[in-house]
Amino acid sequence: MGIEERRATAEIPSVVLRDGNSIPQVGLGMLRISDDDVTSVVKSGLDVGYRHIDAAAGYDNEPGVGRALSETGFNAGQARKMLWVTTKLKDSKQGYGSALKAFDRQINELRLDYVDMYMLHWPTPFDWRSGETWKAFVRLREEGRVRTLGVCNFMPEHLERLHREIGEWPAVNQIELHPTWQQREVVAFCKQHDIAVEAYSPMARGADLNAGDGTIARIAAAHDVSEAQVILRWHIENGTIVIPKSVHTQRQRENLNLFGFALTPTEHAEIEALDGPVRAGHDPMTFTYA
Ligand SMILES: NC(=O)c1ccc[n+]([C@@H]2O[C@H](COP(=O)([O-])OP(=O)(O)OC[C@H]3O[C@@H](n4cnc5c(N)ncnc54)[C@H](OP(=O)(O)O)[C@@H]3O)[C@@H](O)[C@H]2O)c1
Repeated sequence: MGIEERRATAEIPSVVLRDGNSIPQVGLGMLRISDDDVTSVVKSGLDVGYRHIDAAAGYDNEPGVGRALSETGFNAGQARKMLWVTTKLKDSKQGYGSALKAFDRQINELRLDYVDMYMLHWPTPFDWRSGETWKAFVRLREEGRVRTLGVCNFMPEHLERLHREIGEWPAVNQIELHPTWQQREVVAFCKQHDIAVEAYSPMARGADLNAGDGTIARIAAAHDVSEAQVILRWHIENGTIVIPKSVHTQRQRENLNLFGFALTPTEHAEIEALDGPVRAGHDPMTFTYA
């Protein structure tokens, strides 16, 4: 498939961030894919129209992602400009010098000249080094090696603390968000400060496809779409950036095909009612993904 044909399949809306950059609202998640497998997963994603890849040092597959980007030509020239690549710093590499060193290694493995977004992966409030690390992030942005700076898993108190230390808000906060874990207070805080919300595990790793005793399935049947498409469409209509992960081409295509139907206000209310007390992932107050 040539670049022009690829462009024709990439009708994905963008979200304009507080720093002026535009991020495609749907990206492809890279978690729990081996380095060997990830090259073909990324190639398949690019083929079906993804223009946003969500990577991390902690996923141990950046070399495989880099292979896919260089073998498809998406690592340079015009094709590179059409792609958004996010990656994240490991918590164990926080700190000014160690973050710069880690970034050098990551960008090398990804075979890129710059990444579109670099993120702190966890706030680790029990070992807080975010302010110091952010200074390295700012340097990378000044050098043109990173375009946008973001955080993951930051609760309002962490965002406030970072803001007090560095005098800026991150452009994006990537948090666990899905129908049964809606984190309304965090979302409201982000909206108030013009921090874009990005949902990870947007389908609760698949568990929310069956949420609400068939509620999602009923809405899906009414629109003749899949349960995954209902949940992802709900995020999109809320203005959230989503990064669903699938290693299967057919599901990758399905998870991108979200723009031919709309949910009703009643359906939004039904999904909002599914919010619950159980997260699928880890607690940002205590977790470190060293
Ligand atoms: N910043 C952080 O701390 C953090 C934490 C967790 C995740 N993330 C990011 O968020 C991405 C997505 O989160 P996630 O992988 O945890 O969960 P997810 O995207 O909610 O769910 C992925 C699971 O759902 C399945 N699936 C995907 N599409 C489907 C469909 N259309 N129908 C049925 N099943 C489907 C996948 O299986 P198959 O692959 O077999 O299709 C996989 O088991 C990650 O890959 C990662 O990039 C970030």
